[in-house]
Amino acid sequence: MSHAPKKKKTEANLIAQAAEALAFLARFAARPTQVGALFPSSRELAEAMLEGIELKSGDIVIEFGPGTGAFTEAVLERLPEGAKYLGIERDPHFHGHLEDRFPGIDFHHGSAEELPDLLSHRGWEKPRLILSGLPFASMPLEIQELILTATRDTLHEDGEFRTFTYPVCWYLSGSMRFRKVALNHFGEHRKSKTIHKNIPPAKVLSYSKPAKK
Ligand SMILES: C[S@@+](CC[C@H](N)C(=O)[O-])C[C@H]1O[C@@H](n2cnc3c(N)ncnc32)[C@H](O)[C@@H]1O
Repeated sequence: MSHAPKKKKTEANLIAQAAEALAFLARFAARPTQVGALFPSSRELAEAMLEGIELKSGDIVIEFGPGTGAFTEAVLERLPEGAKYLGIERDPHFHGHLEDRFPGIDFHHGSAEELPDLLSHRGWEKPRLILSGLPFASMPLEIQELILTATRDTLHEDGEFRTFTYPVCWYLSGSMRFRKVALNHFGEHRKSKTIHKNIPPAKVLSYSKPAKK
């Protein structure tokens, strides 16, 4: 059963989307490095973030940095009965917006590196899917390390960690540094084709749990 109402392309939806884009821009102006993007991700990027993922009852899905809920909506539409979702959002305005937009859904106001504690407080097992909207490239190295360690340590043996990157930023130092740190934690990534219907165009990077040595 879907947890989110199906959307029709009505005028009201278009107005809501425009309002969300404006709210996003305002948060970027207030906290540029923490928000890390001028606009929310597109529906096409949300679909690419979930491509090939089949969620089952009992699965746990974690989302880091849901923002205004671009990926959340697509996740909740696919979340079967008996599966669980937790979003972790650091910005208080986005956190309030998510609670209003998705009533009854579990959103923690805090930072992604808290994941191990949040799982253990809820008595939850290892997540099957961890989706990230975090601006890793503009994050201090020590926070990046903490978040990637928490992600790798909690991820289910058959689980996936997915994030996205902008090809236009591929060779910028922050983006290269993130890929290097992620390589140390997970090994190689798989890269999607470029999703052109996104501002700016983006690629999904997927990581699997490294085999135990
Ligand atoms: C680039 S926006 C992505 C928002 C949304 N996922 C999307 O794709 O439209 C980054 C989001 O990560 C949040 N964020 C930044 N650092 C965070 C952290 N350490 N823990 C949780 N959320 C964080 C920001 O507040 C913002 O909502």
